[in-house]
Amino acid sequence: MSESVSSRFPGFHKLPLTERLAHLAKAFGLSREDVHTLRGNALEAETADQMIENAVGTFSLPLGLGLNLTVNGRDYVVPMALEEPSVVAAVSFASKIVREAGGFSAEADPSMMIGQVQVTRYGDPTAATEKILAARDQILALANSFHPDMVRRGGGARDVEVRMLPPPEGPRGEPLLIVHVLIDTQEAMGANMINTVAEGIAPLVEQATGGKVYLRILSNLADRRLARASCRIPVPALADFDMSGEDIAEGIAQASRFAMADPYRAATHNKGVMNGIDAVAIATGQDWRAIEAGAHAFACREGQYRPLSTWYLEEGHLVGRIELPLALGTVGGPIRVHPGVQTAFKLLRVSTARELATVFASVGLAQNFAAIRALGSVGIQKGHMALHARCVAVTAGARGAWVEKLANLLVKAGHVKVEKAKEILAALPADEARAATGS
Ligand code: MEV
Repeated sequence: MSESVSSRFPGFHKLPLTERLAHLAKAFGLSREDVHTLRGNALEAETADQMIENAVGTFSLPLGLGLNLTVNGRDYVVPMALEEPSVVAAVSFASKIVREAGGFSAEADPSMMIGQVQVTRYGDPTAATEKILAARDQILALANSFHPDMVRRGGGARDVEVRMLPPPEGPRGEPLLIVHVLIDTQEAMGANMINTVAEGIAPLVEQATGGKVYLRILSNLADRRLARASCRIPVPALADFDMSGEDIAEGIAQASRFAMADPYRAATHNKGVMNGIDAVAIATGQDWRAIEAGAHAFACREGQYRPLSTWYLEEGHLVGRIELPLALGTVGGPIRVHPGVQTAFKLLRVSTARELATVFASVGLAQNFAAIRALGSVGIQKGHMALHARCVAVTAGARGAWVEKLANLLVKAGHVKVEKAKEILAALPADEARAATGS
C-alpha cells in the first residue's frame, strides 16, 4: 500500500493556481509532466484519436481537489472533474466536519459482476432450468477458459444462476429465461471480460437447453459489488449559521425522511450524491455511465425509487449511511492510456478497486451531507449566488483579484447580472478599469 499524504491543506483554496500546483507537486512528489498534465494538458489529440472514432480533438473540464477526506483512518486527496461550482468545496467542507468526528468508515464487496444470457424457445421452463444447472461446472470451466490470466490472479467465473421472469406481454408469452454468470473481475471494471464470457458460453447454453440465445451482455445493476460508507457526527459539532447543532441535525434528518418517502425528492437527493461520485469517476477514468445506471437501478430495488443515503439521529449523533453498486477499475479502460487519469491515481494513492470504491462511497455521502445540511437550514442559493457572481464577473471582463472583488460588489448590490457588472467596471477610473480587466 502506498504511503498516505495528509488531505488537510489549510488555505489551499486561497492560493493562486500556480502555488497550489507547486504545493501539490511537493507533497506528492509529482514530476514536471504530472504538473503539466494537471494544468490541462491531459490528453493529446493523437491519443484521443486512438480512443474513439471520428476524433477531432479533446474536451476539458475543470479539475479540482476534494480535501480533508479520511476513510478508515487513511487520508485521500480526491481529484474531481466537473463544471458545477460548489461541489468540490462542499465535499471538502463536509469531509472536514466528518474528519473531526473520526472520519468515514467504509467497505466494499469483492468485484463480483453479472453477465446475462437471454435464452428463448427452450421448451419447458423447469426442465430448461435443470439442464442449465446440471451444466454449471461445464459453463464455469468454459467461462474461465477465456480469461486464464484473471483466473491465475484469483478471479474468474464463480457461479451460474437461472432466473425465470414473467413475460411482459402477459401469461400467453414465453417466460424469460435469463442465465446469470457471476464473475470476479478483481481490479478491472470488467465490462469487456464479462461480455466475452457471456458471448462465449452462449453456444453451450443453447446446446444444454435446445433453446436460442439472443442477448449476451453484462448487467450494470452490479448489486453483488456494493460499497458502503458511514459517518457519525456529534450533534453539537453541526452548529452553524447562528443555528444550534440540534436544529441543523433535524433539518438533515427531515431531508432524509423526505427523500425516503418521495421519489421526486429522492431523484434530486441522489443527484447530489452523484455530483461527488461522477466527478471523481471522470477524473479517474471510470465508466461513469455504468456507475450512474447501477446507482439508479439499485435505488429502485424495492419497487420505489429511494435515496442512496440516509441520515438519522442516534444517541446525540447524526449518523449518515450510503450503499450503492460501484463497478470500478484500477486497470483497463482509459486508465493506462490517459495521462490525466494516471496523475489522478498518483494523487489518490489507492491500491485496489475495492479501496477506490470506499473513497467513492464516502465522497458521495460527503457531498450529500453538504447539500442537505444547507437545504435543511439556510438554503443553497446564497452560496450558489456568490459562485455564480464570480462567473458573471469573468463574463463581464474582470480578471485576477478583481473577479472576487466584483463578485462581492454584485452580491452586495443584490443584482448578479452581467450588465450590472459591466456598469461597475465602466464606472471605475481608467487605470483601475485597465487593472480590473487585465487590458
Ligand atoms: C445540485 O446540483 C444538487 C442538489 O440539488 C442536491 C440536493 O438537492 O440534495 C443541491
